[in-house]
Amino acid sequence: MQDSEVAYLEFTQDQADALFVASQSLARLGGPEVFGAAGKARQCAEALTRSLDAQQQATLRRFADGTLSALMYRGMSCPEHDPIPEDLPELQGLEHDPRCIYLASRNQILLELVRYRAFAFDIDNEGKQVRLVGNFKGGGSQPRPQETRDTRVELSSHAGLRLGPHTEAPYNCSVIARDDHSPAPSALILTARWNPANEPTHVIPMREVIEGLGSLHALALTSASFDFTRSDCFVAGSGEPEQATAMLQFDANGGFALRYNSYRFSLNDQASDLAAQAFDAFQQRVAETRPRPFVLQPDTALVINNNRALHGRDILQDNRRLLVRLFGYSPFAQPRVITPDPLLVRG
Ligand SMILES: [Fe+2]
Repeated sequence: MQDSEVAYLEFTQDQADALFVASQSLARLGGPEVFGAAGKARQCAEALTRSLDAQQQATLRRFADGTLSALMYRGMSCPEHDPIPEDLPELQGLEHDPRCIYLASRNQILLELVRYRAFAFDIDNEGKQVRLVGNFKGGGSQPRPQETRDTRVELSSHAGLRLGPHTEAPYNCSVIARDDHSPAPSALILTARWNPANEPTHVIPMREVIEGLGSLHALALTSASFDFTRSDCFVAGSGEPEQATAMLQFDANGGFALRYNSYRFSLNDQASDLAAQAFDAFQQRVAETRPRPFVLQPDTALVINNNRALHGRDILQDNRRLLVRLFGYSPFAQPRVITPDPLLVRG
């Protein structure tokens, strides 16, 4: 039976070869951080699309139309052997490593296959398009070299802590910019360079959860009754906490858009009893929903619809796990653009 929320796109060998060549040529230009990469990625995606069969194209359309929580690409090729190191190398070196730039370039093309454009926020990840997700700051189940118990570990994708179910920040709005804040990412795409312990990324599709709440509870989640705290990885003075915001809104593409973070959202002091009950019911249903595990490796990539699904992961077991992440905006998203190429928006 076809899963209504998750789909897989398996590349043929010829398609994988073409994607490999395109990703390498994009990487040689410098990858997603350089001027002109977005246009080149779009051209590569258009060429690749012409080689897809009708069923593959239909799968891409389901994601592009906003009706899938997650799409996993499978059967991709990688450059020659890439042995797993003894320890995770330093972040700075990895950011300039050709292998990481290759994987990031491939992610950018894969985003363009569903007509999403890669972008970065000014307040997050130092304005860079590519985020390397790994335990650079401690907090995993095994300590990093020099990590002590007193080390204060930030709750972000640069640490090894468990990340409970969440959508990606910012949480001010979902599709159209509001009060000079750009919307949350429409999607994120992840692939792995190393994942020696096969540690999964968890996805929780939210359509069923919201429908199961009932109409009055769902309606209450659209009221401005919820507060959130700022993300640890935002630059100081930016992305400040906000009070009395909504979690849920109607959206024509897919039916709804959700903003939520299990470790950052709380009930506003002024919230009504109905909103409080709805928030409790929502959190309970999320806790009761079994997440879908996706184990990423270099031959796979996962696009997650950030309006329609929560994602998270458990505490890291193997500190060498390294994922490569990009954010994407759908054609419907209207951000506050700072520079168009590479696309940088106000957070
Ligand atoms: Fe995340």
